[in-house]
Amino acid sequence: MNDFTKIIVSENDIGRKLDEIAVRIREDYEGKDLLLIGVLKGAVMVMADLARRMPPTVQMDWMAISSYGSGTKSSGVVRILKDLDADLTGKHVLIVEDIIDSGLTLSWLLGNLRSRGAESVEIAALLRKPDAVQVEVPVKYIGFDIPNEFVVGYGLDYAEKYRTLPFVAILDPKVYAGE
Ligand code: PRP
Repeated sequence: MNDFTKIIVSENDIGRKLDEIAVRIREDYEGKDLLLIGVLKGAVMVMADLARRMPPTVQMDWMAISSYGSGTKSSGVVRILKDLDADLTGKHVLIVEDIIDSGLTLSWLLGNLRSRGAESVEIAALLRKPDAVQVEVPVKYIGFDIPNEFVVGYGLDYAEKYRTLPFVAILDPKVYAGE
């Protein structure tokens, strides 16, 4: 079954980009304890692949949040469903995200984490949709800028499906036609 009109970021593209980003992160955080924070569920794949390119002392923690909004539109108003286990005081934090769409989620998260006493808080995101951005967020490490299309794969879902694809693809509108 082919549910996609186009693969826009291949498995090889992702691997090569994560190699590049990981080199930069390792240099930037050399000698520092680094805590990677992932936002469930979309960031699971990029977190797993990026974290395995880090020194074995790197730590991971997770948040689950829910945006209040109508349907697929996020509003920027966020509720924490699962908070971090870690205390951020004095820590170097890197938020690892799959995608920046409107930027509302990360804008809120950045403010929230910065208020917890971290030494530094930066962002790494694999994908960004420049044409969808409503709030500019300072992203230190970015993978790919992509068109403002409905994409799935590598953590990104449609109705909880397609997260496990090793690539990022544009979903064929026939899949969600009639909704
Ligand atoms: C996605 C993605 C980001 C957020 C980005 O998560 O993982 O967290 O949307 O959108 P924004 O820039 O417009 O705020 P989603 O809410 O779909 O949940 P999921 O990770 O569980 O799929």
